[in-house]
Amino acid sequence: MIETRRLTRRFGELLAVDRLDLDVARGECLGFLGPNGAGKTTTVRMLCALIAPSEGSARVAGHDVVREADQVRRKVGILTETPGLYDRLSARRNLELFGELYGVDDVAGQVRRYLALLGLWERRDDPAGTFSKGMRQKLAICRALLHEPPILFLDEPTSALDPEAARLVRDFVGELKSQGRTIFLCTHNLEEADQLCDRVALFRNRLLVVDTAASLRHQTYGRQVEVRLRELRPEHDAAVRALGLPVELAAVGATLRLRADDPDAITPAVVRALVLAGAEVQAVTPIEHSLERVYLEIMGGQP
Ligand SMILES: Nc1ncnc2c1ncn2[C@@H]1O[C@H](COP(=O)(O)OP(=O)(O)OP(=O)(O)O)[C@@H](O)[C@H]1O
Ligand SMILES: [Mg+2]
Repeated sequence: MIETRRLTRRFGELLAVDRLDLDVARGECLGFLGPNGAGKTTTVRMLCALIAPSEGSARVAGHDVVREADQVRRKVGILTETPGLYDRLSARRNLELFGELYGVDDVAGQVRRYLALLGLWERRDDPAGTFSKGMRQKLAICRALLHEPPILFLDEPTSALDPEAARLVRDFVGELKSQGRTIFLCTHNLEEADQLCDRVALFRNRLLVVDTAASLRHQTYGRQVEVRLRELRPEHDAAVRALGLPVELAAVGATLRLRADDPDAITPAVVRALVLAGAEVQAVTPIEHSLERVYLEIMGGQP
């Protein structure tokens, strides 16, 4: 649904996006992650045919973003970082205007549907200018969906929202995904990316890596299991080493940390050896590193 080839954007001397090659499949939710100023929004704007690439190309829903910009705009819904709304118009009127502009068939019906879905129906006649940040964000989400686009670009959809509203929007994005829409999600919320996205791309002016979160974890940290003992003695450690298994061991207090390509194959033998050596095993736990740790590691360990 989205294909970019050496997609590049300069602003004067500044290289904001450097030869990006990326493919997003139909129905996929891709998390686009990177620090402030990484070029995420610039990428989104090129893919929505709002600004032109300096070099390279991109196709969105089968259309070239430069030569077929109009077709691209019809196929995409975009939630921008700062939703530009008409402050003096009501929520409903804001959406109606947009729906008419986009030639939506049943404007009134669609407006009602999305205002209700995002919990804004009661406030439909209030001017958008009187809305809170989060309400404006939700209104902008309604606007991105009115024309039922198959591809959605969401640029930090939950950044202005309180935990409850963020949860609502997150669930809503999950719902959009289950409807088979393709979603390109820029977010600084790594837990959100982990929950929602099929793959994540780590990006800082150029693409650093793109993969599933699980695979990134395993590539960065290997697969790890912790065995917590009542007490860790030298003979316990020695008994495990004597097995000669392909496993790295590290002791942290009374916990033995195992790192292996396939811990499931190794853990039973390790536990057996520990017990035979007189250890009292209290817990065996797989370690799942947070996507945040993986992100910081790949971005260079800088917070
Ligand atoms: N219209 C513009 N004119 C000049 N420079 C720009 C313009 N738009 C973006 N830039 C520059 O391009 C770089 C990338 O900006 P962009 O907004 O794409 O980053 P981002 O990854 O979305 O960051 P954030 O996480 O803060 O939203 C920045 O250095 C920014 O200053
Ligand atoms: Mg941005």
